[in-house]
Amino acid sequence: MNILAFETSCDETAVAVVRDGREILDSAVLSQTDLHALYGGVVPEIASRSHLEAIAPLTRTVAARHSIDAVAATAAPGLIGALLVGLNFAKGYAMAAGLPLIPVHHIRGHIAAAYLSEPELKPPFLAAVVSGGHTLILEVRDYTDMRTVGGTRDDAAGEAFDKAARVLGLGYPGGAALSRLAETGDARRYPFPQAVVRDAPFDMSFSGVKTALINLIHNAKQLYGDAWAEETDLPSVAASFQRAVVEALTTRICYAAETLGYGTVVLAGGVAANKSLCASLRERLGDKIRIPPVPLCGDNAAMIGSQAFYEAQSGAFAALSQNAFATFPPGGRALCCG
Ligand code: KG4
Ligand code: ZN
Repeated sequence: MNILAFETSCDETAVAVVRDGREILDSAVLSQTDLHALYGGVVPEIASRSHLEAIAPLTRTVAARHSIDAVAATAAPGLIGALLVGLNFAKGYAMAAGLPLIPVHHIRGHIAAAYLSEPELKPPFLAAVVSGGHTLILEVRDYTDMRTVGGTRDDAAGEAFDKAARVLGLGYPGGAALSRLAETGDARRYPFPQAVVRDAPFDMSFSGVKTALINLIHNAKQLYGDAWAEETDLPSVAASFQRAVVEALTTRICYAAETLGYGTVVLAGGVAANKSLCASLRERLGDKIRIPPVPLCGDNAAMIGSQAFYEAQSGAFAALSQNAFATFPPGGRALCCG
């Protein structure tokens, strides 16, 4: 079954064709990062308009060479105006071509990225989805049966990286730049706090560590004025911050795997590109950890096409009245309605 999939939940317009949930036949991702960098964050209206301009030409190049059996689109969660562009385009394509439509949850899609890089991978396993918008630990009991067991109480890990990077003057989105800066730093030079969420051992909080970094830089500016950057060991600030975030994630993910008895753990989402996080999980989990390659960790449509195959197998097709949702739980009830 060849599925034409669309992903427009945030600032990437992505289209892909995936065969039987496991093989990418074609995939294109058009990033809008440059448009939003000017504002230091994603501007929802610019995102929607940009998806609208990009989606039809991108579809023409991706879909042209393949026979298509079904159409899928991310229907939740995300920026609602951005989601509506991709979902409605998918709906129009499906209607015109007489094909079934499959709505896909973005988080389920991030997890499915691992089916594309790990041919042997099958549920059950534990998954950690760590991105700019989400930080969640889930039990993946079956392809379409999952349960959230932990997550952040405030900022997503990627969001904390991005805010820290902005304060350090590294631009937007700065997660990757911050981790590059950290490479030459001493991760033990600056003490950053580690939050513990009482009675919720798999939950995390990143607002404290973010605020600590903001305060540290604020103090340096007050002390040194314009010379604050030269007077501060910025690589060590970045490395110490990164260490605190990576430790928080590694501890919770490993504790959840151990407590719940999972022999396989999948790391997904944009922050899975972080080398320090990958190394820390590999060190603690050995060959239990599965991490898709970087292009599949960030937002893309191939992961949506993969998950759509399994949603279709469970009969979760959309009616033409299918709506999009800014928020929606990844586990439990199906996303399709109407
Ligand atoms: O999954 P993704 O592409 O989009 C969302 O669904 O949010 O994740 C993007 C996030 C951004 O916050 C970005 O800064 C972060 O992933 N990121 C990184 C790295 N590469 C990307 N964070 C830390 N280290 C990296 N190397
Ligand atoms: Zn994402």
